[in-house]
Amino acid sequence: METLTHDIVIVGAGIAGLRAAIAAAEANKRIDVAVISKLYPVRSHSVCAQGGTAAVLREDDSCDLHAWDTVKGSDFLADQDAVEFFVRQAPREIITLEHWGCPWSRTADGFINQRPFGGHSFPRACFAADMTGFHEMHTLAGKATIHENIHFYNEWFVTSLILKDKITAGLTAIKLKTGEMYAFRAKSIIMATGGYARIYEFTTFSHTSTGDGMAIAYQAGIALKDMEFIQFHPTGLVPSGILITGGARGEGGYLINADDERFMKDYAPDKMELAPRDIVSRAETMELQEGRGIEGPYGPYIALDLRHLGEEKIDERLPLIRDVAIKLGGVDPVKEPLPIRPAAHYSMGGIHANVRTETPTRGLYAAGECSCLNIHGANRLGTNSTSDCLVFGAVAGEEAAKHASSASLQALPKKKVLAEERRVFEEILGQEGDEKVAEIRDDMCRIMSQDVWIFRVGDGLNNALKGVVALKERAANIGVKDGGRPFNTGLVAALQLNFTLDLAEVTIASALARTESRGAHSRLDYPKRDDGNWLKHTLASYAKTGPRLEYLPVTTTKWTPAARAY
Ligand code: FUM
Repeated sequence: METLTHDIVIVGAGIAGLRAAIAAAEANKRIDVAVISKLYPVRSHSVCAQGGTAAVLREDDSCDLHAWDTVKGSDFLADQDAVEFFVRQAPREIITLEHWGCPWSRTADGFINQRPFGGHSFPRACFAADMTGFHEMHTLAGKATIHENIHFYNEWFVTSLILKDKITAGLTAIKLKTGEMYAFRAKSIIMATGGYARIYEFTTFSHTSTGDGMAIAYQAGIALKDMEFIQFHPTGLVPSGILITGGARGEGGYLINADDERFMKDYAPDKMELAPRDIVSRAETMELQEGRGIEGPYGPYIALDLRHLGEEKIDERLPLIRDVAIKLGGVDPVKEPLPIRPAAHYSMGGIHANVRTETPTRGLYAAGECSCLNIHGANRLGTNSTSDCLVFGAVAGEEAAKHASSASLQALPKKKVLAEERRVFEEILGQEGDEKVAEIRDDMCRIMSQDVWIFRVGDGLNNALKGVVALKERAANIGVKDGGRPFNTGLVAALQLNFTLDLAEVTIASALARTESRGAHSRLDYPKRDDGNWLKHTLASYAKTGPRLEYLPVTTTKWTPAARAY
């Protein structure tokens, strides 16, 4: 197997990965940086971010207020020192993107415009119409390509992380075009592979969001943190689940039930539709469960009414939403309310790392949705995700460059590399089992959607855990019929299935253990938040018998946990 060598390897080319690459390349021009992605960069899921990027830009807003909104939104599980660092760095990232040419939407007097968003007590979501992620990605991709010390490996699929004596040594990846496997050596590796909401059926996420980096790190022995906290976005378009941005409510959209009522008055009378997502998604679910959904061909739904905004405003602020709703929902929001339901959207959990994006393994960093830096706690506020990717992408790039400037390359343990080659090409590609990847994947999504959704109970979680463990056994007997090497999508699907099954298992095990309700984790059998026992982070480490759980304290600086009302 050929070995390729770089100072830094970044896995993932979304907002966090590209921002990390630029930061590393600029930190030290002699360092060479590789970006490996299973896609072309501008196809990464980050292009689907719509509504905005949160940052304090106005004098009547403040970092303290942004930090407080984030901590309260997190149901007090965020580490407050980390949040304070995050909000102070976010404005710099907006201005940096401005200098690099990001086409932010503007106020009449030319300033970067900002819109209201759920859980924020000031309109601080900087936006580019409703295609914020798309424009950020194109800005970053353009900037990254002018750096001669950044090398792109597009359509390469990373299969494993290789450690030597618990230090980062490299990884293995398949060049999809030929199907050959390569070993990479690197002093620093940054995981920036995004989320894993594709463990669910009804999700706002791209089919490629299979949590590869999280699973690869977990399988290499690095712990995942707070994986029980999955965010459900209140407005997934029925029937596809495609995101209808929270910016639609930020611009003034209403949520309506079958009685033609703005039901949020009963759940969050002050914030109404602009309450945090966990609260709005629970409210919608209760309306649906209590029979106040609107009947439609795909089951009962909630209506998102934008008609009162008028065609001109919808076309200026929400053009993508109008296009998507017409093409994929058959509904023009200028004329009719949109059918929506809560959809799996984001994972607050991820690879255990600190505010400098360092994991416990020397030379390994994590940024963006695949990481858990304790910023979002039990519930992330909308538009804090793209800010997180920018802020901590930059931090990861700088830290990885610092490390690569002084560390030396590790020798790749040959045995591990060859074992990985055998696993992929003999134990998976060569398999002729009866089980089908797609069927196991659909069964996993069904289990997760049934028992690990917005409201959870112990019995359901126990059943889900047994179900996923059984699926893992079935997955040992899959067949990958196409034995060819070039662009073997069957092989990629099988590898992704292996990743998602592990992540589903960790999610359920962590949720089952947490016997309280906090943020997006709502246990009907433990309906109250329990700070006495559960103001702590969950760490899940790989063990042969299933995830091993431990706990870490939450850092509180200024704000004592209090009841969370909106
Ligand atoms: O609603 C949205 O536009 C999504 C934003 C986010 O997840 O931060």
